[in-house]
Amino acid sequence: TKGSKPGMNTNKLANVAHRGASGHAPEHTIPSYKLGDEMKGDYIEIDLQMTKDGELIAMHDESVDRTTNGTGLVKDYTLEEIKQLDAGSWFNEKYPEKAKKSYEGLQVPTLEEVIQTFGKDARYYIETKSPEVYPGMEKELLRVLEKYKLTGVNERSSKVLIQSFSKESLLKMEDLNPNLPLVQLISYKEQATISDEELNELTEYAVGVGMSYTKIDEDYVQQVRNAGLHIHPYTVNEKEDMERLLDWGVTGMFTNYPDRLNEVLKKK
Ligand code: G3P
Ligand code: CA
Repeated sequence: TKGSKPGMNTNKLANVAHRGASGHAPEHTIPSYKLGDEMKGDYIEIDLQMTKDGELIAMHDESVDRTTNGTGLVKDYTLEEIKQLDAGSWFNEKYPEKAKKSYEGLQVPTLEEVIQTFGKDARYYIETKSPEVYPGMEKELLRVLEKYKLTGVNERSSKVLIQSFSKESLLKMEDLNPNLPLVQLISYKEQATISDEELNELTEYAVGVGMSYTKIDEDYVQQVRNAGLHIHPYTVNEKEDMERLLDWGVTGMFTNYPDRLNEVLKKK
């Protein structure tokens, strides 16, 4: 099965710069991703939404309201319209202590622009968001990955990990390219438990799982590891939480502060 293989091109713990170094700069903007890179995040995490004219853009929410000066749904905007929006000023207003003049007027990047900026030396941890809202998003994602030769010939050489809460979306990706490493995100409302049956099912298509770090314990982590799967909890911003999760055996984590995670890792 896929899950029994390493599935990633490094044994190092994966420091995933969540929406870039989004604790320091406006999420899903080029400066945020650049900071993530400078702070030695291993992966740039990108959430995908799709415009009315079928362009994949980096944005967490289905609506532009929270992270731009616009209102309404991404699916009702053309890319040209999205490009008029200011994706940085909200951050300055919300976090005056971290505000920078240069964040004013930042544009929402397309997936292609992110890849053009960071190239093949970077690694990307890409999430298909709301795939039920965007028919064809998986196909378009694969087109972009192939255009920039990011898919690799096998799991280990792939520069990207594909993540989703939607198993259906992951299976679509697998169907389009069986070599792409897939990470199943799981949303738990209460303390997480996982059965052998669920783990067996996951290992059929995924190399790892991700879930809120607040819902898991050491037993859960060990069960996932024993099944040969990676476990990347999100979104871990405090050093004591990072340390505890590392002690439990996680293989990486999503953080808005890749700098903090590297400080913790150095001491281990
Ligand atoms: O993708 C991992 C984590 O980011 C999932 O939650 O809502 O931040 O995309 P969310
Ligand atoms: Ca995400």
